[in-house]
Amino acid sequence: MYNNIKIQLLDQTALLEIDRPKFLNALSRETLEEIEHAFQHDLLQNTAIRGVIITGAGEKAFVAGADIKEFENYSSEEGMALAKWGHGVMNRIYEFPKPVIAAINGYALGGGLELALACHIRIASDNAKVGLPEVSLGLIPGYGGTQRLADLAGRGKALEMIMSGEMIDAQDAQQWGLVNHVVSSDELISKSTDLLKKMYSKSSHAIAAAIKAINAGLDKQKDGYESEIAAFGDSFGTPDFREGVDAFLAKRKPNF
Ligand code: HXC
Repeated sequence: MYNNIKIQLLDQTALLEIDRPKFLNALSRETLEEIEHAFQHDLLQNTAIRGVIITGAGEKAFVAGADIKEFENYSSEEGMALAKWGHGVMNRIYEFPKPVIAAINGYALGGGLELALACHIRIASDNAKVGLPEVSLGLIPGYGGTQRLADLAGRGKALEMIMSGEMIDAQDAQQWGLVNHVVSSDELISKSTDLLKKMYSKSSHAIAAAIKAINAGLDKQKDGYESEIAAFGDSFGTPDFREGVDAFLAKRKPNF
């Protein structure tokens, strides 16, 4: 039924694997549509599923970002529409009434880190690297990253990561408050399922209410999200965007 994701049932947990390892699991439009569909239907409606783990296929990446090849010729309007739709998908995960853990098994970059930030909890393998490198493409994060990174790590760290475009390793990500736990690659899924199992012994109604209440407290950021969508759209059509994307596709360093 899906071409880019796989969903496997591990007892009461759905393991959703983003499955484009050749492209480091980059989020193509179709991939994001499939994630959206899964959270709207299968994962939500199946009462046997009490929690979700999102991870990436292969050894190298969780998700290396939105698929750059797909948006290389976007206009501002198309960029804004992409961010707006993406915000909807990320919000669906952020507000999902069952616990969602991102099991970060390698690179989580750009839209990939933003996907992880939308999950309720992040657990990283010790070889994970996370970052928001959009400035290298003449863009800014567009799936909620400017808001959610600042929520978790604080304004200073968020500005450092977003303005430098640099990645940090799993240990630093834990110190920054981005990930809850760091474990070996072998333990990543078992640590995630163990944590979920503890939650399954509690009231699922109370868990859904806790997610709702905690998110409600952070909702004052709404204008920030709108401004991110507008700024992301504005980045398209700039010479820096052209140069950043051309450089990536030509496998050279951008010259801004
Ligand atoms: C499309 C991607 C990709 C991406 C990797 N690939 N990331 N394709 N979109 N985001 C592809 C490469 O083109 C390559 O395909 C294959 O995956 C393997 O990647 P390599 O670059 O050869 O691997 P490596 O040298 O190990 O470098 C790994 C990497 C690098 C450091 C992660 O791939 C990289 O910098 N990727 C881009 C990361 C990024 O900028 N992400 C943010 C995207 S913007 P071929 O066909 O050449 O083998 C974004 C915006 C979100 O996410 C908001 C949207 C609204």
